[in-house]
Amino acid sequence: MKLLRNDLCWCGSGKKYKKCHMESDALSGTPKKIIAPKGIKIKNSEEIAGIAKCCKLTGNILDMLDEKITEGITTNDINELVHDYTIRHGAIPATLGYNGFPKSVCTSLNNVICHGIPDSTVLKNGDIINVDVTSILNGYYGDANRMYMIGEVSAEAKKLVRVTRECLYMAIEQVKPYNDFGKIGEVIQKHADKNGFSVVRDYGGHGIGLNFHEEPHVHHYNVGYRGLHMFPGMIFTIEPMINAGKYQTKLLKDGWTAVTIDGLLSAQWEHTICVTEKGADILTLTSKEK
Ligand code: MF3
Ligand code: CO
Ligand code: CO
Repeated sequence: MKLLRNDLCWCGSGKKYKKCHMESDALSGTPKKIIAPKGIKIKNSEEIAGIAKCCKLTGNILDMLDEKITEGITTNDINELVHDYTIRHGAIPATLGYNGFPKSVCTSLNNVICHGIPDSTVLKNGDIINVDVTSILNGYYGDANRMYMIGEVSAEAKKLVRVTRECLYMAIEQVKPYNDFGKIGEVIQKHADKNGFSVVRDYGGHGIGLNFHEEPHVHHYNVGYRGLHMFPGMIFTIEPMINAGKYQTKLLKDGWTAVTIDGLLSAQWEHTICVTEKGADILTLTSKEK
């Protein structure tokens, strides 16, 4: 918990602690005097309620897909299911038109790490696919993704999906007031390494709520420093991408699709999480998520 002189300051300035808040903290007494890092929005109760409602809908969309995602459907079909459900529930798919992204959901199949674009690809037996849904409801954002397995999946693929999910939940256990963001990547990388997998570094989690991507960037690998403190009212995603082989990514010519450089499998799980006085609320968790 205690910041060392040469750690990055908790305030987000990017300066070493000794060059920033160390002296004033010593005078005023930490952690009582700890204030939220600059540039990170602490949500009020009205905002939290609105974001929670949107996150609930987002989780429900992933639930709805449970029975629909089967061998023989296309990723375009998934796009249509997500789009229609979102609109019918009074929300907007956040990815549609976001920085030019052309679809209402991301579908990342097998060796695709993230941001796969739905198309006419047909799902087949043995595939693993990540579906990443982001919704906007009454101006508030919610973001979550899950893995779906098609038919008989290899033992290695099953293990990758399971371990990635365990990484997410181990990271969520680290979400509590005044813990360090660095802990998230620390526990994820430890668990991935132990299982012979690697952690993607080029993409991370993010603050969310009033916008799609807000500060802070959430590292999923061990950055080797403590990072910012978490504060009640912060809302952010944790969304580890874990590769069966090398951690490096390659961007396809479409400008979106990120794939593994060795063609091996990648998995991802994502939740939107709110820091509470006591710990964390997983806003996108539904009772149906198994
Ligand atoms: N939902 C993704 C995330 O978890 C972002 C998708 S952006 C898109 O951050 F443009 F690719 F859709
Ligand atoms: Co996200
Ligand atoms: Co997402």
